[in-house]
Amino acid sequence: MNSPGAEMEDRTERPQWQALERLASAIRGRHLNALFERDAGRAERLCAQACGLTLDYSRQRIDTEVLEGLFALAEASGLRAAIEAMFAGERINHTESRAVLHTALRAPPDAGIAVDGHDVMPGVHAVLARMQDFADRVRGGDWRGHDGQAITDVVNIGIGGSDLGPRMVCEALGHLADGPRAHFIANVDGAPLSALLNRLDPATTLFIVTSKTFTTQETMANAHSARRWLVSAADEAAVGKHFVAVSTNHEAVSEFGIDADNVFGFWDWVGGRYSLWSAVGLSIAVALGFERFRALLDGAAAMDAHFRDAPFERNLPVLMALIAVWNRNFLKLGTQVIAPYREALARLPAWLQQLEMESNGKRVGRDGRPLAHETTPALWGDVGTNAQHAFFQMLHQGTEIHPVDFILPVAADHALDEQHRMLIANCLAQAAAMAAGRPDESVREELAAAGLQGPELDAACGHRQFPGNRPSNTLLMARLDPGHLGALLALYEHRTFVQSVIWGINAFDQWGVELGKRMARDVLSALDGGDAALDPATRRLVMQIRESSGSPD
Ligand code: F6P
Repeated sequence: MNSPGAEMEDRTERPQWQALERLASAIRGRHLNALFERDAGRAERLCAQACGLTLDYSRQRIDTEVLEGLFALAEASGLRAAIEAMFAGERINHTESRAVLHTALRAPPDAGIAVDGHDVMPGVHAVLARMQDFADRVRGGDWRGHDGQAITDVVNIGIGGSDLGPRMVCEALGHLADGPRAHFIANVDGAPLSALLNRLDPATTLFIVTSKTFTTQETMANAHSARRWLVSAADEAAVGKHFVAVSTNHEAVSEFGIDADNVFGFWDWVGGRYSLWSAVGLSIAVALGFERFRALLDGAAAMDAHFRDAPFERNLPVLMALIAVWNRNFLKLGTQVIAPYREALARLPAWLQQLEMESNGKRVGRDGRPLAHETTPALWGDVGTNAQHAFFQMLHQGTEIHPVDFILPVAADHALDEQHRMLIANCLAQAAAMAAGRPDESVREELAAAGLQGPELDAACGHRQFPGNRPSNTLLMARLDPGHLGALLALYEHRTFVQSVIWGINAFDQWGVELGKRMARDVLSALDGGDAALDPATRRLVMQIRESSGSPD
């Protein structure tokens, strides 16, 4: 099957697409300041709320006509049916013949979600119960290491979706952490693991090897190195007390030596980048406690219900996705900046990069034919206020426009109130400055008053002028707690899905990562002296590295 968006054609030929192109030409000549001047109720109207989140999208370069055009495009793209198909467990990941049911991971036991007639909810809740039991035992000191000591440090070994989600959540909610210390090892670069192992005590360390496939090179290399470290300090029998696994590949886990009782499973209908809600979130449950993990799931479930039920006009993921499509395909803006105003959300851009760019970084439609339109923008960002002193110069005065999502948890989780008010003020001010800019006349007046004139005045004006008209969303969340964070992350997951439906692509496969993985195996064999067929440039580099490191010929 090829739904969502069954019939594939050049979507840019659709009347709804072409109507939006015409609207884009018209709006290019209009400044956001003019849009606000002409419409007193704009700030009130272009604002939506759900699940403790407020989305202000009044600073997007849109008007009522554009919004109506975008809703028409959503309808013509079959968005309603696509949403239902995902929630109903249809195999919408058609290139891998898989359902897409991360929403089931946060649903109640009686949700009645089935794949091919098989209710998946008992399995989901059975794993959650095991996670709770495990987290309680580790946190309570009942799970003991090989010499009887309680666990003080938990190391999640995984990469991509098996790392970014749990790492980001543990950091974001670090102020609530009251369990063993959580560490994350992803990179095949041996430096982080070596440094971490130097600091840890094998007797009190527990490794969670997290890999859906249990074949990922980086994860297996790190897991084997950690295993050797443990065995050299204790013995083979210690592995059972210091290693658990999160995987769908039970056979490979058992070959590694992890007992079947210590494997937390999940399912092929959970994509790696959508998996933090599954047992992949085990490190979250251990570090923060299962109740907080459950609250994270509940926040996401609330956003799922909103996404499924709210009319498009008030639907946060739909609104954000349609705005993203407008910016990308019609205003031709090639990137999307994520600027969370909270240090603890520093990993959010990295999690979103995988979510959005691994999902929607595609050049063919669901039928495998090249698309006539752009897909994902490049997503990037960093926390405010730090980023203001780094790349914000370009956002204000660079030659290209980069739309920004400002994300602001309103309540502080510390007692330094004045600094928190400064943080809020900076966030709101940046969004306002990007939209309004600073017109030439006011800059000119100020400089003239300071005594500048003639060509010197003109040049100084050029440097100091701000064009404005730079779009942004402002997303307020009441506070940075598990419930609101869950809702925020689910909001972005659904935004990504809606975009994929408008673009007519499969957001749930990732064939693009395969070629490089295969070639790395060939290069590794060449580095080890093998005769794998390599292109001339790679071969020359391999030869130079082999010569400089004295590897065998
Ligand atoms: O980078 C490709 C990828 O397959 C991601 O989609 C996934 O999150 C990551 O590798 C890790 O995969 P696994 O959990 O199977 O080790």
